[in-house]
Amino acid sequence: DTPELVDRFGRVATDLRVSLIDKCNLRCTYCMPAEGLPWLKRDEMLGTDEMIRLIRIAVEELGVTTVRFTGGEPLLRQDLVDVIAATSSLPSRPTTSLTTNGINLGGFAEKLVTAGLNRVNVSLDTLDRAVFKELTRRDRMQDVLDGLAAAKTMKLEPVKVNAVLMRGVNEHEAPDLLRFCIERGYQLRFIEQMPLDAQHEWDRGAMITADEILEMLSRDFTLTPDVAERGSAPAERWLVDGGPATVGVIASVTRPFCAACDRTRLTADGQLRSCLFSTTETDLRGPMRDGATDAELIRLWQGEMWAKAAGHGMDSGEFAQPSRPMSAIGG
Ligand code: GTP
Ligand code: 5AD
Ligand code: SF4
Repeated sequence: DTPELVDRFGRVATDLRVSLIDKCNLRCTYCMPAEGLPWLKRDEMLGTDEMIRLIRIAVEELGVTTVRFTGGEPLLRQDLVDVIAATSSLPSRPTTSLTTNGINLGGFAEKLVTAGLNRVNVSLDTLDRAVFKELTRRDRMQDVLDGLAAAKTMKLEPVKVNAVLMRGVNEHEAPDLLRFCIERGYQLRFIEQMPLDAQHEWDRGAMITADEILEMLSRDFTLTPDVAERGSAPAERWLVDGGPATVGVIASVTRPFCAACDRTRLTADGQLRSCLFSTTETDLRGPMRDGATDAELIRLWQGEMWAKAAGHGMDSGEFAQPSRPMSAIGG
């Protein structure tokens, strides 16, 4: 029978998140500095065949059933369509999805569907062009809106929108963002800002909490808890004005969901992480380039997951920010 990716707390990882590239074409202030970051060098990154080999091992040997591609910005990776096509055509037919900033999605949507991609999550924090430019340091909001529309047309559904609210910047836009998404059939989720920025400037007091978001939305909408099974989904959901529209909140900081976590992570440079907030990693690139067999890589993967912590510790004061920023981990 198939070996599983199980940890000491009995959680089984069936959801693989692959960061395909650490580069990005935006510079969101809550993520990275204006000048960007010291990007991975070409030979540090896994090649197409290396990436596909590890995804195959996860899906065919280790019980992974869903694969999400993230970045940085995954659409910047040249071989993205090949990696997706190879993943979706694996014999076990995993569900595939992509988390993107949406900038190049308009041009890519059709190719992604052909490659077998099932759905997309797109980041959009504001509907105000000036605020978008301030927040992302690039004047490209229209590209994101076009990308979202293309995803909907191409039925990469459900199309989800991720929004991070920042105090004094875009927090007042929460109701507008929700109306915009409901009108177009996108599922909106608000995300509490997490201490994963490259600049280490995160401040708990400045973070807009799930409670604040719900309070703000309740002035314009009637929210009732969605009774649909949450499973391991990071978002808690509410029906908006009786449904069927919903809104989600991903409250990693104030309402951690680590106990139900089903994730394992692979970075663009071939490091395994058992958690978004892990402070250690397991190298697969080195062993792979030294000729490791599948069985050896499987053992390393299981070892990384066995060492997974119970939680990120933000609620118990035991939290340490990982040395890599979110853009190199893959969110
Ligand atoms: P689906 O629910 O399957 O659509 O995907 P998702 O919400 O897990 O993926 P997405 O990439 O859209 O991530 C949305 C937000 O959830 C991002 O801010 C992620 O950093 C955050 N997130 C994803 N996985 C985890 C996790 O394991 N732990 C925590 N705390 N946050 C996560
Ligand atoms: N905290 C919360 N969410 C973040 N994202 C990027 N950095 C952070 C952070 N520090 C969001 C992006 C994207 C998703 C993958 O994660 O806006 O929507
Ligand atoms: Fe790029 Fe995403 Fe970071 Fe924004 S949050 S700079 S879109 S990686």
